[in-house]
Amino acid sequence: GLSPTVLRVSKEYVAAIDQGTTSSRCIVFDADGTVVSVAQREHRQIFPRPGWVEHDADEIWERVDYVVREALAVESITADQLAAVGITNQRETTLVWDRDTGKPVHNAIVWQDTRTDEQLRRFAAAMSEDEFRRRTGLPLAPYFSGSKLAWLLENVPGLRERAEAGEVLFGTMDSWLIWKLTGRHLTDVTNASRTLLMSLETLDWDPRILAATGIPAAMLPEIRSSSEVYGEITEGPLAGVPLAAALGDQQAALFGQTCFAPGEAKCTYGTGSFLLLNTGTRPVTSAHGLLTTVGYRIGDQPAVYALEGAIAVTGSLIQWLRDNLGLIRTAPEVEELAKTVPDNGGCYLVPAFSGLFAPHWRADARGVLVGLTGFVNRGHLARAALEASGWQTREVVDAMNADSGTALTTLKVDGGMTGNELLLQFLADVLGVPVVRPVVAETTCLGAAYAAGLAVGFWPDTDTLRANWQRAGDWRPERDRAEVERDFAQWRKAVDRTLNWM
Ligand code: G3P
Repeated sequence: GLSPTVLRVSKEYVAAIDQGTTSSRCIVFDADGTVVSVAQREHRQIFPRPGWVEHDADEIWERVDYVVREALAVESITADQLAAVGITNQRETTLVWDRDTGKPVHNAIVWQDTRTDEQLRRFAAAMSEDEFRRRTGLPLAPYFSGSKLAWLLENVPGLRERAEAGEVLFGTMDSWLIWKLTGRHLTDVTNASRTLLMSLETLDWDPRILAATGIPAAMLPEIRSSSEVYGEITEGPLAGVPLAAALGDQQAALFGQTCFAPGEAKCTYGTGSFLLLNTGTRPVTSAHGLLTTVGYRIGDQPAVYALEGAIAVTGSLIQWLRDNLGLIRTAPEVEELAKTVPDNGGCYLVPAFSGLFAPHWRADARGVLVGLTGFVNRGHLARAALEASGWQTREVVDAMNADSGTALTTLKVDGGMTGNELLLQFLADVLGVPVVRPVVAETTCLGAAYAAGLAVGFWPDTDTLRANWQRAGDWRPERDRAEVERDFAQWRKAVDRTLNWM
């Protein structure tokens, strides 16, 4: 007769969801950290006015749901083969939604948005900028969530009353997805460290800051570690799988690059670029315009901190050349175009589209293109745009070296733009150190998968993860140092021209 078959499905994979600035992705990894399946979908960038940037959070959720289904379907992977799911996300982007209906009360205000001057002036009047920095590790800048949330509370009719009554919830994109997937209102400590509302010392919302900014505690999510089981996913293609990690995308890349020891650093080249240096279990204060942030926290182990050099515009400058100027048809074409000329022809492009981030922190800066002559052509513009990523990285590395008192010896890089070898050579030349790229360039998703897999025992420890890291290539400095320094001086003059514009 027929005996019942016991089907034993082994947990072979971990999935990561990366909710980024321009698109959402889902990647499934196996135990070696190899990519098994990928799906990706863009969402709209909404620009209501100059300097304003918004996302439709319902559209983002649809895209996330779509890419999860797609990533599983193309390789016929089912939920019961997944040991865990991890989330990583664009940081700081600010959303408020209704606790009962789940409907956002307004578009999400994106990290690049600069509308919150007035709110920041009020914050500074209530508590000094130094005090904000001491408590949160961050300068008073529109970049972080706090002033965006204050803007929503002031500009969406009735929102403050509803927030005080606990009827609406605040979250960054990690919280939005965790809530959609599990029904819980949580955030992780790396994302919370970007709100301007969390104390780096207690790793909890800072009551003095809540008082100074007028943000009701009732609307804030609970802060958890980056690697722990938050709950089971309740429905959809991932139903039943533990949701076991969340990290801001830059912190996830630090994790995916296995920068687990103090002194290890990576720089990710996405829409913006973000250099993070692991500083160990104590926060280091920057005297040179860097951010102090939480790198990650595994379960109930002590949090690991990082110094961060945040650059707002690198990859998005290439998209701007494509979409707003029509200079290229696809982003990778910028490399070919740049190669049609031997140098920048004397022109410098400083993309201060969201003001300038590290190390300047000038929300009033605006972009400039300088050094133009009749000689300058499309190739020179393409080259100037690529060089802008290199020079901005150089400014951040100089600040990092000054803050840490030791010079960076190599830079691990990742992200979409690192397919561009002209950029990698330029980086090695202007930094004067080797630039190294790993085999798995998807380090952001990999980091979220690693953190989720660690939480459920899919991987035993961080040493196992480190053993997965493999170098794909490195680029070494070739250009004459004195010539680089002369060129850098020109760049700095161009940066000066962006200031005091607004
Ligand atoms: O802080 C903003 C950062 O998290 C955005 O990253 O990769 O979406 O540009 P990305």
